[in-house]
Amino acid sequence: MTAMQNVSLGSHYAVHLPAPDDFAFWRERARGLIQCDVPPDRVSWILPGGTGDLFASEGPSRSEKRLPVPPADPRAVRASQRFLTIARSAALHSDPARFGLLYRVLWRLQSNPRLMEDKADPEVRRLEELAKSVRRDAHKMHAFVRFREVQEEDGTPHFVAWFEPDHHIVRAEAAFFMRRFANMRWSILTPCGSIHWDGEVMREGPPARREDAPGDDPVEDLWRSYYASIFNPARLKVGAMLSEMPKKYWKNLPEAELIPALIAGAQAREAGMVRAGERQERVRPATLAEVAQGAAACRDCPIAECGTRAVAGEGAQQAPLMIVGEQPGDQEDIAGRPFVGPAGQLLDEYMQAAGIDLSSAYVTNAVKHFKFAWKGKHRLHQSPGAKEIDTCRWWLEAERALVQPRLVLALGASAARGLLGRTVSVTRERGRAIRLDDGAELWVTVHPSYLLRLDGAAREEQAALFADDLAAVRARLALLAG
Ligand code: URA
Repeated sequence: MTAMQNVSLGSHYAVHLPAPDDFAFWRERARGLIQCDVPPDRVSWILPGGTGDLFASEGPSRSEKRLPVPPADPRAVRASQRFLTIARSAALHSDPARFGLLYRVLWRLQSNPRLMEDKADPEVRRLEELAKSVRRDAHKMHAFVRFREVQEEDGTPHFVAWFEPDHHIVRAEAAFFMRRFANMRWSILTPCGSIHWDGEVMREGPPARREDAPGDDPVEDLWRSYYASIFNPARLKVGAMLSEMPKKYWKNLPEAELIPALIAGAQAREAGMVRAGERQERVRPATLAEVAQGAAACRDCPIAECGTRAVAGEGAQQAPLMIVGEQPGDQEDIAGRPFVGPAGQLLDEYMQAAGIDLSSAYVTNAVKHFKFAWKGKHRLHQSPGAKEIDTCRWWLEAERALVQPRLVLALGASAARGLLGRTVSVTRERGRAIRLDDGAELWVTVHPSYLLRLDGAAREEQAALFADDLAAVRARLALLAG
């Protein structure tokens, strides 16, 4: 019996989907059924657990192997790009009738290829609604997943988040979190399944409960201070905020407990802002903590959207020596601290050898966010541009004004530009003091990551020059202290 005969006898077909989000499976089966001319009212799409689009409830067949076989020379199935884009999202909706709807629209597209342009068509509109709701859910997941830090048995940090999606988006969004947090070990637990990333491999796990995820920990403080610092009372529209950040998500967000107080204080803060000239003229931070908060909230250049967080400087407020690098690297971005990666280790070694106590210095960067480009799952450092350094200079100057070091050591040309506001040749400027506007001395040398890129005789030669520069800085510091 051919497929067509099968249909003319009025067979009913049940397609059992292996997973509620398996769009690829639906697509393949739907294509075969269209090629066999099986109309939508002769197909049931059954979800795991038995729910689904039970149009063909009287149908005798509940078995996938009884699906008709497409002819040897199947006709092409028409599906516009627009349909496929919307269908891919709509397939993740929690509406049990979604796969039936998708098939009905695909069926109709065969005779009306422009169907998706008909905004008044109820089935097209419903499909768009489903896709929109799924996109919104994904957006909420990106925005509201909050990791809490736990320790693995060997002491490695592992970040765990709890999230309650409305739709079947978890597997589809795994790639987003993998890219975003490629170098962390993390798990996202949800009531409909979990995903785990160990830095190399993504694994899926069973549904979880809220209690399986840890509660408060220090990472929460970071979110809270970040949220308070970006909260702009002048922009407060409570309705819009609730629609962007529905109350449902509040219980999992450390910053949410700030919301009532922030709303209550919004008018007073807004008045304060107006007095401060709408922040066109930024108020200079009064403490290093304010610098850190302000830099975290700063969006004056595109790098601010990169990386995990702004990395503020570290060290004593009145340190005699300020060391300025270029920008945080991959490890600094994850740890939230400057110079904790390979360049930092090398710097440490050379500082010790020169007799400079790094712990009594203030260490920071010309640019506070990590600029990088993805290469596979690795984040490759990219040098900040002159404009980006100049934009971030405001924060570096704020740090310098608070720390008031006697001597500033710039590691590399980006750091020197951040301090002087102009292009600097390290070769020409190294080994001597440059007077800064407040009387402090600026010394310029190479960045330790430059040494890491060299080997053999070139490295030896540059390492010796670097050691000489640090020895000169040490001598000068001793003199300035005396
Ligand atoms: N390189 C820098 O310039 N700064 C850091 O914090 C780390 C690496």
